[in-house]
Amino acid sequence: MSELVIEKVWKEYGDQIVLEDVSLTVASRAFVALVGPSGCGKSTFLRMLLGQERPTRGTILLDGQALPQEPGPDRGVVFQRYSVFPHLTVLGNVLLGRELSASRYKAKLFGTARRNAIDEARRLIAEVGLSGAEGKYPAQLSGGMQQRLALAQALIMKPKVLLLDEPFGALDPGIRAEIHTLMKRLWHETQMTVVMVTHDMREAFTLATRVVAFERKRDRPEEKERYGATITKDISIWPPRLAGAPSVFSPDRDGPVISLGLRRDDPASSPSGEKP
Ligand SMILES: Nc1ncnc2c1ncn2[C@@H]1O[C@H](COP(=O)(O)OP(=O)(O)OP(=O)(O)O)[C@@H](O)[C@H]1O
Ligand SMILES: [Mg+2]
Repeated sequence: MSELVIEKVWKEYGDQIVLEDVSLTVASRAFVALVGPSGCGKSTFLRMLLGQERPTRGTILLDGQALPQEPGPDRGVVFQRYSVFPHLTVLGNVLLGRELSASRYKAKLFGTARRNAIDEARRLIAEVGLSGAEGKYPAQLSGGMQQRLALAQALIMKPKVLLLDEPFGALDPGIRAEIHTLMKRLWHETQMTVVMVTHDMREAFTLATRVVAFERKRDRPEEKERYGATITKDISIWPPRLAGAPSVFSPDRDGPVISLGLRRDDPASSPSGEKP
């Protein structure tokens, strides 16, 4: 389970109202694409889901529990750039989360625990298509490879919720299409609920189960600071896409491709639908 319930959330920075009265329920295993004009608060909203920012008013619940006041392993994140650490190798980047959670201060694993974590990291690196690059540094990778690495880095912690802030926005169209296929496969094969900010409508409709638009209802210059953005459109994709289930209408496009071995031992792993 990984249901998000956002209730009457407002976010203000000083006198500026960025988001007003945002309510949204995201079903477990949904893939929500957030779209909206630049500056309307999409990244701010994502940072609140991550726990980096707190709502000024309102509540955010993950599986019925108030979100902890700081980022945690149940929420993974990939930004457009700079999600990975430049001074660590590919393997080091993927291992980092495990090392930090084992020992917050030393960031080291030992013995069998270390060997197991390395095996898992290598498997994940292969699954995102980076086999052979384990010893390279991010500066030695292309943009597409860096984003694949960022995905592997987030996935090793098996997050309940994966938050993506324009993760593929800087990639060439060809590379972007490849990484879309990967993203879709990861979504089908894991138990994650995904919330992705994008400027690309095509990307939104290619990947998501639901497309949510944020907009300011009043947008004259003198009104900008006094009125925040809120949800103005909420479109469920038709025919419906279900995590882990091939689409009746286009099985090749929407179905799980191969087993990634990423499934959690979660008894509630049956495909779940999308709530409107
Ligand atoms: N930490 C902060 N302090 C003050 N104002 C902020 C802060 N973070 C964001 N803002 C303001 O909140 C508004 C929304 O910013 P945000 O980055 O969430 O927009 P966005 O929708 O992600 O835009 P873009 O599509 O360009 O990435 C902006 O006016 C921004 O200046
Ligand atoms: Mg943004």
